[in-house]
Amino acid sequence: MGSKIIGVGMYAPPKIMTNNDFAKMVDTNDEWISTRTGIRERHIAEPGTATSDLCLEASRRALTDAGVDPKELDFLVVGTLTPDMPFPSTGCFLQMKLGADRAYAMDVSAACSGFVYSLSVADALVRAGRGKKGLVVGAEILSTVVDYTDRGTCILFGDGAGAAVIAECEEGDGVLSCHLHSDGSLWELIHCPGGGTVDPCNPGTSTVRTNFIRMAGNETFKHAVTRMAEVSLEALERNGVTVADVDLYIPHQANQRIVKAVGKRIGIPEEKVFVNLDRYGNTSAASIPIALAEAKEKGRYSKGDLVLLAAFGGGLTWGSALLRM
Ligand code: UT7
Repeated sequence: MGSKIIGVGMYAPPKIMTNNDFAKMVDTNDEWISTRTGIRERHIAEPGTATSDLCLEASRRALTDAGVDPKELDFLVVGTLTPDMPFPSTGCFLQMKLGADRAYAMDVSAACSGFVYSLSVADALVRAGRGKKGLVVGAEILSTVVDYTDRGTCILFGDGAGAAVIAECEEGDGVLSCHLHSDGSLWELIHCPGGGTVDPCNPGTSTVRTNFIRMAGNETFKHAVTRMAEVSLEALERNGVTVADVDLYIPHQANQRIVKAVGKRIGIPEEKVFVNLDRYGNTSAASIPIALAEAKEKGRYSKGDLVLLAAFGGGLTWGSALLRM
């Protein structure tokens, strides 16, 4: 048996920050942000919002789309780099809030590759007989870890959540394959140093501003293009299909220039590439499931279509998944 996505949903908090809002905070402007990144606005959660609150909204929508009751769920997997707390997992908070009493729950930490990693875990759980129905969520409140004094990073990120209900299906349908890779030796390119055991962020022990994202943008950019292209082709090759067979390509939404460069490398026409980063910015683990939900709503794929997902993020981590919808 395999697993298949049978429902999707997304949620972004209502508050929006435009490029002009950033021009009032740091030395930047709408023209630089739009041309260098393609981002025009991003959604920002109100203080006091928990990541599991965003998960809950997206999950309810995905469950409605799938026609599945939370009590039918066997497991929940949440990909996030901004959990509610170090522990328990955001998955456990989501389980409680959803009333998914029968489900076991966990988080997966793979930064911006969080959804593809979580989907791969969920698919493996179904294949191993550890459940027949589950929820896979990517969710972030990146505004809690963004340094709003650093123009090189603060303009990039947004908050949101996307969810997919997966269920057991016949082999050869649904998730055809997942491909995951990591390179821990490049951890420094994009990371958040504080809040863990290395720098616990206890009063008096933390060094200044360690609880924020740090990124070597230019270097990260190059790895993102190379790795996302590679892992996309790996998925096609494994399944004996070509890029011409792909109906929709959903790459991680980090930067319009990255998306364009990856698309060019793998040779997919622009009209088959889904882009919504202009309205959400980079939402890390949430970017792909938000895009999946929007793509469905806009009729960008239908039953039987081949959809290719490709992710890249801190770790470094990268991965792809080929789906028969
Ligand atoms: O999600 C997971 C992975 N994340 C990514 O894949 C993000 C990858 N990186 C990027 O998207 C891009 O590297 C950035 C958008 C972050 C930066 O774009 P870039 O074209 O790589 O610019 P850069 O870092 O090479 O900087 C070029 C110039 C610098 O000024 P000087 O040194 O040439 O005078 C920066 O200080 O642009 C300056 N700059 C800005 N100027 C206006 C950097 N950020 C800004 C800004 N507004 N917000």
